[in-house]
Amino acid sequence: MLVLGIETSCDETGVALYHTRQGLLAHALHTQAELHADYGGVVPELASRDHIRRVVPLTQRILDQSGYALTNLDAVAYTEGPGLAGALLVGASIAHGLAYALGVPAMGIHHLEGHLLAPLMEKPAPDFPFIALLVSGGHTQLMQVAGVGKYELLGETLDDAAGEAFDKTAQLLGLGYPGGPAIAALAEQGRAGRISLPRPMLRSDDLDFSFSGLKTAVMLQVKGRELDAQGRADIAAEFQAAVVDVLVTKSLAALKRSGHQQLVVAGGVGANRALRMRLTRDALKLGSQVFYPAPEFCTDNGAMIAYAAALRLQASGPEIRNTQTRGFSVKPRWNLASLKPAGV
Ligand code: KG4
Ligand code: ZN
Repeated sequence: MLVLGIETSCDETGVALYHTRQGLLAHALHTQAELHADYGGVVPELASRDHIRRVVPLTQRILDQSGYALTNLDAVAYTEGPGLAGALLVGASIAHGLAYALGVPAMGIHHLEGHLLAPLMEKPAPDFPFIALLVSGGHTQLMQVAGVGKYELLGETLDDAAGEAFDKTAQLLGLGYPGGPAIAALAEQGRAGRISLPRPMLRSDDLDFSFSGLKTAVMLQVKGRELDAQGRADIAAEFQAAVVDVLVTKSLAALKRSGHQQLVVAGGVGANRALRMRLTRDALKLGSQVFYPAPEFCTDNGAMIAYAAALRLQASGPEIRNTQTRGFSVKPRWNLASLKPAGV
């Protein structure tokens, strides 16, 4: 079965073709980073308008690359939520229009399910069950994953997401948007420990997180001071070390508590090299293994949406494969743990 995946939840237009036997055939991405750079964050209306311009040409490009035609599609998948309402509506309307014209199902996919299952496209892939650390611009969650659509929330951020903390700290340091890669690059020249930042909730006896205090602590370091390049790099390094400390400690605690030995890391912050190195090293000491998507599939992309839909399609009965819906909506807020397995 051949699935087209469309991702338009935020500031990245991603499309991909996934074949259930042949694997990922083609994918393409357009990032809007430049479009939003002057504003220090995503401007929703600009994001929606740009998605409209990009989805169709990108889809044509991957069809040409793959040698398949639209008429070969067995399903059209799109990100139904969570995300920016207007941006989600672009992908949803194009997907439903296409699916209706082709007589195939349109499948709304949860964005975080896409992130969470993306590491299963790699080799070696983790087996169910596993623990997932979801760290993106909007979410920081630890999940217990028993199968596709079987997700149990173990802990989450009480305020800012890890990626959001990277983005806000980058702004305080005068770096561009998105902040994660910029902080990570600057941290390479910095010395963690030169200044001291808190590790929020490191010793709380739960699996929750909090990152807004960390951002405030950075603000206090920056306020009223003329920082030179080294001073800014030192703050970036200590900030990154603090986030990594907390994410690693809580992830390992989730492994210990659950008795699982596999950890999957997904979402944009999962591209962070310092996090990957610490997690892999410390998990190994526990006898556990960590799985990551390829860096290009850590941040938002169409492949994870096409892949999640392909897994659901394979698990579903013929009644779902033949479903045609006319109306549709999107879910800007949508709880991952509320999902069900295919066909249930
Ligand atoms: O998963 P994602 O692409 O979009 C959301 O679903 O939010 O994640 C984007 C977030 C941004 O906050 C960005 O700053 C962060 O991931 N990010 C990183 C890195 N690359 C992206 N954070 C830390 N280190 C990175 N290398
Ligand atoms: Zn994402």
